[in-house]
Amino acid sequence: MPLESAVSETRVAATPETVKKFLSLGCSISIEKGAGIAAGFSDDSYSKAGAEIFETSDKKIWGECEIILCVQAPSEYCLSQVKNNCLLVGLLSPYSNTALEKSLEDSPITALALELLPRISRAQSADALSSQANIAGYKAVLIAASALDKYFPMLMTAAGTVQPAKIVVLGAGVAGLQAVATARRLGAVVFVSDIRPAVKEQVESLGGRFINPPLIESSQESGGYAKESSEDFLKAQRKELTKHLSEADVAICTAQVPGKTAPLLINEDMLSQMRPGSVVVDLAVAQGGNCSGSDPNKVILRNGVKLIGAADLPCTVPNHASSLYSRNLLSLLEPFIQNGKLNINFEDEIIAGCLISHTRIINNNIDSTNQGEQK
Ligand code: NAI
Repeated sequence: MPLESAVSETRVAATPETVKKFLSLGCSISIEKGAGIAAGFSDDSYSKAGAEIFETSDKKIWGECEIILCVQAPSEYCLSQVKNNCLLVGLLSPYSNTALEKSLEDSPITALALELLPRISRAQSADALSSQANIAGYKAVLIAASALDKYFPMLMTAAGTVQPAKIVVLGAGVAGLQAVATARRLGAVVFVSDIRPAVKEQVESLGGRFINPPLIESSQESGGYAKESSEDFLKAQRKELTKHLSEADVAICTAQVPGKTAPLLINEDMLSQMRPGSVVVDLAVAQGGNCSGSDPNKVILRNGVKLIGAADLPCTVPNHASSLYSRNLLSLLEPFIQNGKLNINFEDEIIAGCLISHTRIINNNIDSTNQGEQK
């Protein structure tokens, strides 16, 4: 397992807990020196769990391993050194990582991108998008609460009563629902917009109030995911949201459509109608953003509104993010490891769903079909 090379990446793909579990399956585990430090896992803790720690200068290790567990795609050098049929598993950004696509073309690797995991019951424990989105939704609310110029809860004090903050959550997927739950726990009043009417019940069960989507298009979902909305639909939706946002203290933006640019739900005009001192946290910023002008990992002041581009929130909770992510990886691979031998079933629905590259000689069909369908 490599030290993550992406600049802001603090998570790690195996913890001492999952190392022990892989060892009990008969595997041996090598971990690059310092790989877990940013997430609170020392080299010593991995050694105690039974892993071997290798120095970054030990280049030959890449030619020996059979599975590479990573959070984000490893360096081109690492990929160029791996042996035939090596399995790479991680959050590989299959929709946008052209550098990785090129490396995979040139190397004999089988790669599984966890972003493409099918949303079926059997895959839930391996669902890394969900485990990480949950953290992002929680942290977005804490960031908003600490940036806001008001309390979240209603408080009755000797100096009089303060009204609860009004939060608008855009998108009620995993991150959005966790944001609703967290904001409710802090005592805020929460309004939620989503284009899938099916989530109304989930929002209300958490104490949120659902803003019905415009009725101009019949079905907004396919297979449980949102479909890309037309510009007319978004225009009608923005009109409805303007009223809510002009009264809001916080907007948490989580609306996304897999593989597409995020829908623009707060334009300049809507921003200018928000209260100075209010806060917008845009979790969709890496996919283009739900809010006009949001910038990854920057805080921008627009007419007194704090616009926070929250691109890497799971990296700000690296210990738990790594614990959950590493269990996702274990859960994905465990059924295919017997007595230390990896025996992947490429016909398995979960594996076939995540497969973005396969040693061409063995399974060219799955490789090309899968990539074509997902993009
Ligand atoms: P996501 O991150 O792709 O999108 C977030 C939310 O944005 C979605 O709820 C989507 O409907 C919403 N959205 C898209 N366009 C919008 C717009 N114009 N305005 C407002 N909202 C908009 O979604 P995520 O978190 O990946 O979840 C998608 C679905 O998959 C959810 O129903 C979730 O419960 C389900 N799911 C199922 C799992 C399973 O069965 N194993 C595991 C995880 C999630």
